[in-house]
Amino acid sequence: MRYTLDEHVRQDPRILNVYSAARRIYDSESRYHHNFDHVLRDLYRALVIAADEAPVHYSTLIPSVLLHDIGFSDPSFERLGHDVAGAHLAEDLLGELGYEQMLVEAVSHCIRAHKGKAELPETLEAKILYDADVLEKAGLVYLILGGKIVCEFGETIDDFLKRESADRKNELERGFYTRKARELDGGRLEQVSSLLSRIKVEIKEIRPDFGICEKDLWSEKIPYPSV
Ligand SMILES: [Fe+2]
Ligand SMILES: [Fe+2]
Repeated sequence: MRYTLDEHVRQDPRILNVYSAARRIYDSESRYHHNFDHVLRDLYRALVIAADEAPVHYSTLIPSVLLHDIGFSDPSFERLGHDVAGAHLAEDLLGELGYEQMLVEAVSHCIRAHKGKAELPETLEAKILYDADVLEKAGLVYLILGGKIVCEFGETIDDFLKRESADRKNELERGFYTRKARELDGGRLEQVSSLLSRIKVEIKEIRPDFGICEKDLWSEKIPYPSV
């Protein structure tokens, strides 16, 4: 694997402490999608993007990616959003790990800005994290990950489509911040967005095969005929 943490850990051994703490937090939650595997995918993408940019402050970028979704581990995420809840948790955790205030604030900004909602990314590291996380949704395989998200949140397909369509629309309007992310996307985010729109239409239509719409099929118990 071309992009690894080895050199970064040699440069800043504290990264290993953050890695271990982050892994513990995500593993204790066992979420279907927002888990340590998702974080590692984002981390790899972030390192690919960062290699195309200079100068990147890896002591900010790597902890930010590792901790960006820990907000889901705190019940306050439903009220604050997992971006803001995660920033609070990361500030406490990095303080305990001996990080200086400036670095804590830099990581906190990246986490708050990773959805482009609570804050917009202002620093290069925040822009790289944002792009790496949005790229997770680029490509049709995201529809399979989408099934995991529906299960994780215990929501209907309709809930999922409303939120995800709005998010994709905002992301497409905003665009990627880095050249490398635009190249890696290659128009796949747009494909996902248009497919979500098609599914939104389909679940409101009556199917010809068994005469019930997908929305009802998903959200209600269907009384199947006995045989
Ligand atoms: Fe997130
Ligand atoms: Fe994420």
